[in-house]
Amino acid sequence: MLRIKNIFITGGSGKIGRALLPELVKAGYRIRALEFDEKVKYSKSVEVMSGDLRDVRLAEKALQDMDAVIHLANCKENRELFLDTNIKGTFYLLDESKKCGHLKQFIQAGSDARVGIFYYPHPFPIDETMPHQAYPGYYAFSKVLEETMCEQYVIQYKLPVTVLRFSWVHDEDDILAHLTLKVPNFGVPVWKELAKTQKQKEYFRKKADGVACLVHPGGQPGIRHIVGIKDVVQGIMLSIGNQAAIGQAFSITGPAPFSYGVAAEYAAKILHLPVVLFTCDYFHDLAHSIVKARSILGYNPLYDITRIIDDAVAFRQAGKKRTPTKYIG
Ligand SMILES: NC(=O)c1ccc[n+]([C@@H]2O[C@H](COP(=O)([O-])OP(=O)(O)OC[C@H]3O[C@@H](n4cnc5c(N)ncnc54)[C@H](O)[C@@H]3O)[C@@H](O)[C@H]2O)c1
Repeated sequence: MLRIKNIFITGGSGKIGRALLPELVKAGYRIRALEFDEKVKYSKSVEVMSGDLRDVRLAEKALQDMDAVIHLANCKENRELFLDTNIKGTFYLLDESKKCGHLKQFIQAGSDARVGIFYYPHPFPIDETMPHQAYPGYYAFSKVLEETMCEQYVIQYKLPVTVLRFSWVHDEDDILAHLTLKVPNFGVPVWKELAKTQKQKEYFRKKADGVACLVHPGGQPGIRHIVGIKDVVQGIMLSIGNQAAIGQAFSITGPAPFSYGVAAEYAAKILHLPVVLFTCDYFHDLAHSIVKARSILGYNPLYDITRIIDDAVAFRQAGKKRTPTKYIG
């Protein structure tokens, strides 16, 4: 194991950061968290540092006494911001990590956006060797560029980088916000846009609820791979200080892909709602291999689709309020 005590984390107020920070504190790391636009309540032991990734002087101040970086911050689909925030911001951190010479690990948040999720055919499980092929858009483009910079810093300077490629991360009642037809209709595909028949359109006109089941034109349910937030946190915790993770990328996703047919039936039964089929002709089945993360990191994801749905139902039943999210999924 690498001796890591002091960690600089970006994006601590974001979806993954909020779940990760308490675990880092519990594990005894000394944390410096970058605070940008969102104020959140951090544990007293977290040192909060205000700043902007776009500031060229930020990295030098932030990293001077740090052993590791966990870089989660970025902006999503934003043509005006993505180059400065995601690309230059990541570059400043990588370059200072190289320059300072004392950094033991740089953990970069990657994404399965880099392989184009369901936009392209993947006739076999996607593994870490598959070349980048971002789906259209600036967010996926920036995930590829961030990773490319990381890869080059490993090759050119032997920077100790670990890239963790998360699938679509599910927390709170995200899965129900995705599967059910009423607002907030979280994630893509957007069911309303797939409504072609009168019966389907009625749901949206009458604001009636139902559970969506995505099917291919041939009628078979679509297959997709997502990840529960606690499994994401597990993947990150297992990577910190792990010598075998240096210079490597890992797919961090759920224990198995799910079928929209199984998910819709399961959620519909619990919520007492009808299942509504939506045919999507541009959706390609998506499944990842997690063999590498299992064998090298000891990653053991526990949240399959039924557990993710159960947790989302419990979240709603407890009357909790959904955190606004910027990531459409
Ligand atoms: N959420 C997902 O489903 C998902 C899936 C795959 C990969 N990822 C990746 O994981 C990482 C974290 O994702 P998330 O969903 O927690 O993000 P989020 O959108 O919830 O949070 C983004 C964070 O970035 C910070 N930020 C934005 N602009 C900044 C700037 N200029 N300077 C400093 N900080 C800034 C925000 O304050 C916030 O803390 C990202 O790199 C994302 O691409 C997320």
